[in-house]
Amino acid sequence: MNVIVVGSGIAGLTAALHAHEAGHVVTLVTKGALGDGSTGFAQGGVAGVYGAGDSAERHARDTVDAGAGLSDPVAVSTLVAEGATRIAELIARGVAFDRSPDGELLLGREAAHSHARIVHAGGDATGAAISHALSAAVRGAGIPVVERAFLVDLVIVDGVARGIRILVDGAPGELEADAVILATGGAGHLYAHTTNPVGTTGDGIAAALRAGAAVADLEFVQFHPTILDSAPAFLVSEAVRGEGATLIDADGRRFMFDVHPDGELAPRDVVSRAIARQAAAQGSPVRLDATMLGATTLARRFPTIDRVTRERGFDWARSPIPVTPAAHYLMGGVVTDLDGRTSIPGLFAVGEVARTGVHGANRLASNSLLEGAVFGARAAAALDAPAPANGPAHTHTHTHTHTPSGHEHAAPDHPVARTFSRAALQQLMWNQVGLLRTDDGLAHAQETIRSWRSEIAARRSVTDHEDANLLLLAHETVSAALQRTESVGAHFREPALIGV
Ligand code: SIN
Repeated sequence: MNVIVVGSGIAGLTAALHAHEAGHVVTLVTKGALGDGSTGFAQGGVAGVYGAGDSAERHARDTVDAGAGLSDPVAVSTLVAEGATRIAELIARGVAFDRSPDGELLLGREAAHSHARIVHAGGDATGAAISHALSAAVRGAGIPVVERAFLVDLVIVDGVARGIRILVDGAPGELEADAVILATGGAGHLYAHTTNPVGTTGDGIAAALRAGAAVADLEFVQFHPTILDSAPAFLVSEAVRGEGATLIDADGRRFMFDVHPDGELAPRDVVSRAIARQAAAQGSPVRLDATMLGATTLARRFPTIDRVTRERGFDWARSPIPVTPAAHYLMGGVVTDLDGRTSIPGLFAVGEVARTGVHGANRLASNSLLEGAVFGARAAAALDAPAPANGPAHTHTHTHTHTPSGHEHAAPDHPVARTFSRAALQQLMWNQVGLLRTDDGLAHAQETIRSWRSEIAARRSVTDHEDANLLLLAHETVSAALQRTESVGAHFREPALIGV
């Protein structure tokens, strides 16, 4: 069959390679150049190799615990069971994961993992190594790649996905297909501060919403705790804390044990909120102290972070560095079954754009590359398999599945910014729909977004389309956040703080 894959991170590249190897005629369409996107930025690694004392069951338990119990257990079992196969495939495709002198894979540890089980490459350049190897494999396989192609919309005929509308270098076009696999990533640029590369504007989720696909869990936005407090945003991997680095307040005191028994290795949402509160209380960023690891270890284990921090004027081998949270990953997305099928026949979604159910309310570190590889391969294998009788929108019971109509709340007494700009939207989302949320702030955000949506012009340029996508996703995110009145995982409602 003719298959279009949209996106060229690990999920899209894996899906394209598997579909091609299964005999399908694949075209890969990507917004930037081949391999641009979030995968190339990933530092920590891929979770899933089980050393002595570890097991897939322990990995599954850690995933569900980090997800605050909202993960789909069947999706999690699938993820952890197939991880080793996909990691072996990455090695076979040329990813040189770091090894000990006797050839054993070196396993890193990250927050909320009960064991060291994370393979990494180039120390802290895992995503770049994967992106490079899989992009080369796609080129080598002769899969046609359409670069600089912006996804405008899905083409739906009689309720079935039959292609995509695109802008290529600004010129409109349409590609027909028997199946479309969305692998367009997340929407970090909804927020004023994000680790995501430029262009991460939720285009795939927005197109799926406009087509009527089921979308869920958009309220679960992960904020990575440790971004270097220096523009532009630069991530300091959780693996640094996994190696023993600590978080300290203005007096040099470790504060994470005041909040959680696992200290710096508590789940990401817990660490991010604690950092934000501590920084607000002391009026300056908290600091990450990696000095105990020593200059030689830091340069060898984390060469990218070592280089960039030094370029920005910090010597992290000698002094703690200032860090702050930033939007990092979207747990929610287009609802899929275990084979990437969405609620629209012929439309699949894999990677961050998808809501497979594995991440629940908070993703476990280094499960994202793994998810892209596992479910990218599964979607390709399912392309010409019959769909099960009950579709993906009916397979998950723990979440709020919602439609674009949203859930309106009364406007609170806040001034509404007069005109829309992307920066104003990002600041609004950061302030009101970020790490800590209040009913009043969410209602203000909803009112402001609604007024901005009514004023934006027809979509013509890529920037117009991106703005419309961001506004649609902002609206849906706020609606989902308002509907989930309890605090859970990455979604934290401020009233729950009272009396704590
Ligand atoms: C990191 O290296 O801290 C990021 C890894 C991830 O997001 O899973």
